[in-house]
Amino acid sequence: MPELKDKLELKDIVLLGRTFDEYFRAFNLQDIDLKNAKILDAASGVSSFCAEAAEQGFNVTGSDRIYSLSASTIESRCAQDLELVMAQMPGVSHLYNWEYFKDVESLKAARQRAYKLFVGDFQRQGHRRYVPCEYPHTDFFNNQFTITLISHFLFLYDDRLDYEFHRETIKECMRITSKEIRIFPIVNLKGEQSPYVEKILNDEAFFDCTKDIQAVDYNFIRNGNRVLVISV
Ligand SMILES: C[S@@+](CC[C@H](N)C(=O)[O-])C[C@H]1O[C@@H](n2cnc3c(N)ncnc32)[C@H](O)[C@@H]1O
Repeated sequence: MPELKDKLELKDIVLLGRTFDEYFRAFNLQDIDLKNAKILDAASGVSSFCAEAAEQGFNVTGSDRIYSLSASTIESRCAQDLELVMAQMPGVSHLYNWEYFKDVESLKAARQRAYKLFVGDFQRQGHRRYVPCEYPHTDFFNNQFTITLISHFLFLYDDRLDYEFHRETIKECMRITSKEIRIFPIVNLKGEQSPYVEKILNDEAFFDCTKDIQAVDYNFIRNGNRVLVISV
């Protein structure tokens, strides 16, 4: 029996990416007019969302600090991170629901598919689609995007990104987004709602926006099936 842990032990924010289908479910994208939106994926990393969305004709931009690196460096770091997380899975599998992915092998296959699709698209599109930036700062202009999606970045890593970072990143996303910011998940690595969610809901910087927590049809991290929607 593996020793059970209460969360993944990570030195840094990992380079693991999700697929278009995971984003579609996690962000309730069925409710959004994707064809007429300019979509920003904030801290998009090695997710295949942008590649797959662009393939379907949607206007998408990725943004992440890793995009200043070469495709081969990103790919090797990502392969290492995947092995690191997979090695820990037996000790933390109780923190996840095994429905969307039936087992660790199918999870690994999805993560591999995502990063390979990403790397191919990154090699073809480079910084035209994938913009290097270090949140909370970006060089995007005011209201450049209709909707910004933030997946597995804020709230999840509340043990290493402090409240000020969350607040400034959301404020920056509000500056560059005309309609909505969606953040998923709202739990941290322990599968508990991040205390920063309540702080954001009550923060005077966001008093003028409408905030809504919605249920979603994606429930991999325990208690993780909710998205925070901030209407600017
Ligand atoms: C766990 S990955 C999530 C990737 C993608 N959003 C997804 O859900 O599949 C987190 C990403 O955050 C990026 N990141 C961490 N800190 C950042 C910062 N200050 N500015 C930009 N990107 C950052 C990492 O490089 C990594 O790609």
